[in-house]
Amino acid sequence: MRRRNFLQLASAALSGCVLPSFARADQTAKPFRFAHLTDIHVQPELSAADGFRKCLAAVNALDVKPEVIVTGGDMVMDVFAHNRNRADKLFALYSDVSKGETDIPFYPCIGNHDVFGWSHRQDVKPEDAAFGKGLVCEKLSLEKTYYAFDQGGWRFYILDDIQMAPDNRYQAYIDEEQLDWLTKDLEAKPAETPALVVSHIPIYTVTTFDKGREDDLAYRVGYSAMCRDAPKLGALFGKHNVKLALSGHHHQLERIEYNGVTYICGGAVCGSWWRGPYRGMQEGFGLVDLNPDGTFAYKYVDYGWNAVT
Ligand SMILES: [Fe+2]
Repeated sequence: MRRRNFLQLASAALSGCVLPSFARADQTAKPFRFAHLTDIHVQPELSAADGFRKCLAAVNALDVKPEVIVTGGDMVMDVFAHNRNRADKLFALYSDVSKGETDIPFYPCIGNHDVFGWSHRQDVKPEDAAFGKGLVCEKLSLEKTYYAFDQGGWRFYILDDIQMAPDNRYQAYIDEEQLDWLTKDLEAKPAETPALVVSHIPIYTVTTFDKGREDDLAYRVGYSAMCRDAPKLGALFGKHNVKLALSGHHHQLERIEYNGVTYICGGAVCGSWWRGPYRGMQEGFGLVDLNPDGTFAYKYVDYGWNAVT
């Protein structure tokens, strides 16, 4: 027994009770646990809903149950390029499984596949309230696609880095209005409070590059694969005690330590879009334990799904 614990126990024995301050100290030291479920891509095909159920069952059964689930985007497969009928079905399926299988509250982050109609405009007009991010906000009761909250002594920032690009495509960056909000909120946060950010497309990444460019002596990462404003965001994080940046999108497990921030791309619940592991990466989710002093532990959990083909 360590000397400090012995002295506390001896003191408790003398007073005839366990010291309340001792009990309080232990509770404060307990990490805040949450699960990061990214790239679920739920769909009626390939038993994806059963896979999502199995994932949530694994989350529920953990020795220490997570207090919240934060998604990493691409909750459905997919509404970017499909019509309204299909979009309604996918969101209904997502809602059924996420609400039916666990009582853990969800904090959603949106991905490119959750944005409605940007590349399929035959039956939806840009002035329709559901177009783009309107539908996911309506379905998940979100006021905005970016927001912040406090848990476990940390401030969480759920960001939306999916922006419209020419030719009905998308690219990754934080738009001006969101950046202004984020900057002001970080400035208002107590400096000692650690923070983490969650985005769908990684702020920094090295696990993707444009294919077919091996001969042009350049390693190129497209702006649909990594935030084009990464240096600006990284500098902002460094000023405001942001310790962790979680993402998805690449269905790969990647960890980058850069200028005091840990950037983790957290695999994928669906692996290779429910067709098996993706480039050797098993279907899984992230388990994060946050300590109030700004340290944390991250673990990727393979929940044992076998693709149905
Ligand atoms: Fe994805």
